[in-house]
Amino acid sequence: MKVKEIQNNNEFQLKFNRKTTYTLIFIFFILSFTFFLLLKSTQNKNENENQNENQNEKEKEIKNKKQNWDLKKEKICILMVDDRTLGKNFDFSSNKQIPFFHTSIFANSFYSKYHGYDFYRIDSNNKINDSRKLLNLFQEHPTKQRTSYWNKLKIICLMMNYYDYEIILYLDSDAVFFDFEKTIEDFIVENVNYSENISLILTKDLEISLDYVNTGVLIFINNDFSKKMILDWYNLPITNPGFEFSLNVGSSEQPAMGEYMYKTEPWESHIHILPLNTTNGPDGEFIRHFWGAVPWEERNDQIFQIFINYSYHFHNFLEQIQSQNFSSQISKFIDNS
Ligand SMILES: *[C@@H]1O[C@H](CO)[C@@H](O)[C@H](O)[C@H]1NC(C)=O
Ligand SMILES: *[C@@H]1O[C@H](CO)[C@@H](O)[C@H](O)[C@H]1NC(C)=O
Ligand SMILES: *[C@@H]1O[C@H](CO)[C@@H](O)[C@H](O)[C@H]1NC(C)=O
Ligand SMILES: *[C@@H]1O[C@H](CO)[C@@H](O)[C@H](O)[C@H]1NC(C)=O
Ligand SMILES: *[C@@H]1O[C@H](CO)[C@@H](O)[C@H](O)[C@H]1NC(C)=O
Ligand SMILES: *[C@@H]1O[C@H](CO)[C@@H](O)[C@H](O)[C@H]1NC(C)=O
Repeated sequence: MKVKEIQNNNEFQLKFNRKTTYTLIFIFFILSFTFFLLLKSTQNKNENENQNENQNEKEKEIKNKKQNWDLKKEKICILMVDDRTLGKNFDFSSNKQIPFFHTSIFANSFYSKYHGYDFYRIDSNNKINDSRKLLNLFQEHPTKQRTSYWNKLKIICLMMNYYDYEIILYLDSDAVFFDFEKTIEDFIVENVNYSENISLILTKDLEISLDYVNTGVLIFINNDFSKKMILDWYNLPITNPGFEFSLNVGSSEQPAMGEYMYKTEPWESHIHILPLNTTNGPDGEFIRHFWGAVPWEERNDQIFQIFINYSYHFHNFLEQIQSQNFSSQISKFIDNS
């Protein structure tokens, strides 16, 4: 009996032990699982916090950049310069294509109006009333005549001096705002870190080009240095005989900047160079430039496509550009004050 009891007891013990073990294992699993869940949730929380922190950091960074740049719409102007006379009374209902140096003006002036920038298309044949005699600072070669392309530098210089714009965005006649919803302020803040020294923003040229940068689209920050730099640029073929050739070649003002000034002090540290596909070339994301390398008809067509895109997105586009008094808009000229 005694033995049996003991055996029973043992059995009981054994049973008890087994039950306890199962229970303990079960509890252990429950606890581990709870712990796991807790751990996971704190991890997620941390991740979220990190994400929020990153987000905040990013927002702070953009805010800081914006503060540093402090760009205001009313201090930004868009400038185009050409010596071709513009036609009048275009028939937009016909399929006949309008030459690109008109369609680009329509699109760019619409873009300017849409975002609230001043727009100038200046005929470089216009007589300039330069009461401050700034044009006397531009040097000419005794015998070699410059191509008309050089005129853009003179006009930009006069704009810088006679007006108080902080940004002058210059476009060649074959350059158009492609991403019309993007503002110039946002583009600059997103792509260029502020530095008090920046006076010119422009893009690289094609890899195959002799010139490192392309000068068809120029974003000038109007400051003492840029006012001086633009004179140095115009005068380089006179002050540096190595660039005399550029007075009357096709690419005119580009080699002085694209082969020399961009990599030479004192100018280099005041110039910011962006990738080509930002504001230049036929793949530009913000501005597209259908340069001379593109066949003439193709250039007309590509700029016309963007023109059509404007009219598709803005229902009042055609009425707007038709009601615009281009004769007064275009002759709006440097006024001495
Ligand atoms: C029209 O413009 C929008 C906005 O920039 C752009 O996303 C779209 O690709 C353009 N379409 C064409 C056909 O150019
Ligand atoms: C701007 O500065 C940040 C931080 O110093 C850097 O990571 C970024 O590459 C710079 N961007 C440009 C466009 O220079
Ligand atoms: C700006 O240029 C000056 C003079 O060349 C230089 O001393 C200074 O460090 C530059 N500042 C920046 C932010 O690059
Ligand atoms: C623009 O150019 C940059 C640098 O050359 C390149 O990394 C990027 O992928 C290009 N973007 C597009 C949309 O082609
Ligand atoms: C357009 O501008 C020209 C030149 O400034 C002016 O003579 C003409 O009266 C203007 N036309 C309209 C409809 O405002
Ligand atoms: C040129 O500008 C000056 C200064 O504003 C003015 O007095 C003068 O009349 C202008 N001349 C012409 C020809 O418009």
